[in-house]
Amino acid sequence: MPASAAKQLLDHYDRHARALPWRSPPGSPPPDPYFVWLSEVMLQQTTVATVTPRFRRLIERWPTIDALAAAPDEEVLMEWAGLGYYARARNLIACAREVAARGGFPPSESELRKLPGLGAYTAAAVAAIAFGARAVVIDTNVARVIARYRGIKQTLQESRDDIRKHADAMTPTDRPGDFAQAMMDLGATICRPRRPACSICPLSADCLALASGAPEEFPATKLK
Ligand code: ADE
Repeated sequence: MPASAAKQLLDHYDRHARALPWRSPPGSPPPDPYFVWLSEVMLQQTTVATVTPRFRRLIERWPTIDALAAAPDEEVLMEWAGLGYYARARNLIACAREVAARGGFPPSESELRKLPGLGAYTAAAVAAIAFGARAVVIDTNVARVIARYRGIKQTLQESRDDIRKHADAMTPTDRPGDFAQAMMDLGATICRPRRPACSICPLSADCLALASGAPEEFPATKLK
């Protein structure tokens, strides 16, 4: 990605970032790592619209990770009802207790990765968003944005390594957390799976999928 494109994305984010309860405003100091971790775990299989009110309820009830760590299992599991996958709630409790016992989240991606329930995606997201680490954050939405921007037509499974290489090259040292969330917002609101809103996209000038004339055809899906 040309340096100016990362900047274009961040400039767009400065003006259009979704105000979500786990975020801090663009360009401001990072949010509480507890909020970032909790939201990222919740968002793994659940939409932003569903997560938003449930996240507010959880942090109102347990405003700190110490409070969550001290809560009885049954109460946390009850609050989790409807958010799917019991295992996620079990890991959530285990992780909260481990972090509370060690006095806070570790700031590095590799240490975060060792906590219960933190996979590659969540560890990278927390490192970048909460600690400003230059971690490469790729979820399905971000992968689609990159596949289109770089004109990669294979399925996301086939192009995994390629996508990661491009994502790494694109990720800036400055504001990696805002960059990650700007990519997520772009994938969710503009570079949508169907009918992407290319006319308002900050990356349209250099997007290879758009240049091909059929951006929606990137990336390929298995069933086609
Ligand atoms: N999906 C997963 N993490 C997200 C975040 N931080 N902001 C918006 N959507 C997300």
